[in-house]
Amino acid sequence: MVEVRLENIVKTFGETVALKGISLHIKHGELFTLLGPSGCGKSTTLRIIAGLDFPDSGEIWFDKDEVTYMSSSERGAVLVFQNYALWPHMSVFDNVAYGLKVKKFPKDEIEKKVKWALELVKLTGFEDRYPTQLSGGQQQRVAIARALVVEPKLLLLDEPLSNLDAKLRLEMRSEIRRIQRELGITVLYVTHDQEEAMAISDRIAVMNVGTVEQVGTPREIYENPRTEFVASFMGKTNVIPAKVVERDGDKVTVEFEHFRLDGLTYTEKSDSVVIVIRPERVSLKPVENGISITGKVDLIEYYGFFTEVIGLFGETRIIARTMADRETAELRPQGEVTFHISRDDIIVLPKQL
Ligand SMILES: Nc1ncnc2c1ncn2[C@@H]1O[C@H](COP(=O)(O)OP(=O)(O)OP(=O)(O)O)[C@@H](O)[C@H]1O
Ligand SMILES: [Mg+2]
Repeated sequence: MVEVRLENIVKTFGETVALKGISLHIKHGELFTLLGPSGCGKSTTLRIIAGLDFPDSGEIWFDKDEVTYMSSSERGAVLVFQNYALWPHMSVFDNVAYGLKVKKFPKDEIEKKVKWALELVKLTGFEDRYPTQLSGGQQQRVAIARALVVEPKLLLLDEPLSNLDAKLRLEMRSEIRRIQRELGITVLYVTHDQEEAMAISDRIAVMNVGTVEQVGTPREIYENPRTEFVASFMGKTNVIPAKVVERDGDKVTVEFEHFRLDGLTYTEKSDSVVIVIRPERVSLKPVENGISITGKVDLIEYYGFFTEVIGLFGETRIIARTMADRETAELRPQGEVTFHISRDDIIVLPKQL
């Protein structure tokens, strides 16, 4: 178990600035996720932490040791690549045993450790199979066993589930969580899937073109996004461009289309803003401290345990997600609809994108 600190890491590849000075603090035994779109610098960050690449400037610390320019093998961090990279000509046993053989462990100890690792990923009995005789999920688990068997201080997982089908992905992400808890190991996980990040992580860092925009628990990031990018990246959400038209202390009135929303909290300088509203916070019935806006129904989408009503307010589409079947049953496409939103559930952020 290790605590990892990145201080102001900069990494360039020719003209491309892949990391623009990122700082992160990953705690002991934490499952920490880097979340962000393709090309934002997630894999580069992992490679630099693993010691497979080195930063232009900045520092990396494992507990009390600076490891910035230490070799990969000295660091005791193991990276599991997206494509698993199993050796096709080696059996499952030999794939998992490889790292221990390199380190010249005695034979009986290797057997004991491989047995332990395969038990952990629930692959006991698969020792003699070859990678081609395994499903994607099983190969994935061999790759994880191979990483765990050397008892790394830090496990780095780069989009480990992206090659699996939806069902296996769900199973494997619970498995990774279980193993991480059982061993109390520090895990740094990379994904571009916000739902996966929410489900699995203790904390998440949301990355955007070489910078970290926000670090927090899944709940903090989802409920309290601090930038427009984070708000719009965390799942389906209403992000509506608007203008601040009045200010009174930390309260503002904002306008979009011809709708005026007053009494919202906002203290930034910029008058060009977005208002962020989660679909599940939009109600079809009046709410406390609420604002009401009336428009017309554009679409009604029935998802089983909830329904989405897409309302059209001028040119602006707003999604309401509701479990109230009775109210949605009364709605008709093109008919009038009123959305009610509590002022406490409206986030105003400077316009960014
Ligand atoms: N070896 C390299 N040479 C040149 N540019 C590179 C190299 N590795 C990465 N980059 C660039 O650095 C940026 C960050 O790449 P990185 O692989 O870290 O992104 P990522 O967040 O892992 O993306 P993805 O989700 O697609 O895997 C990209 O613009 C990429 O093109
Ligand atoms: Mg990557």
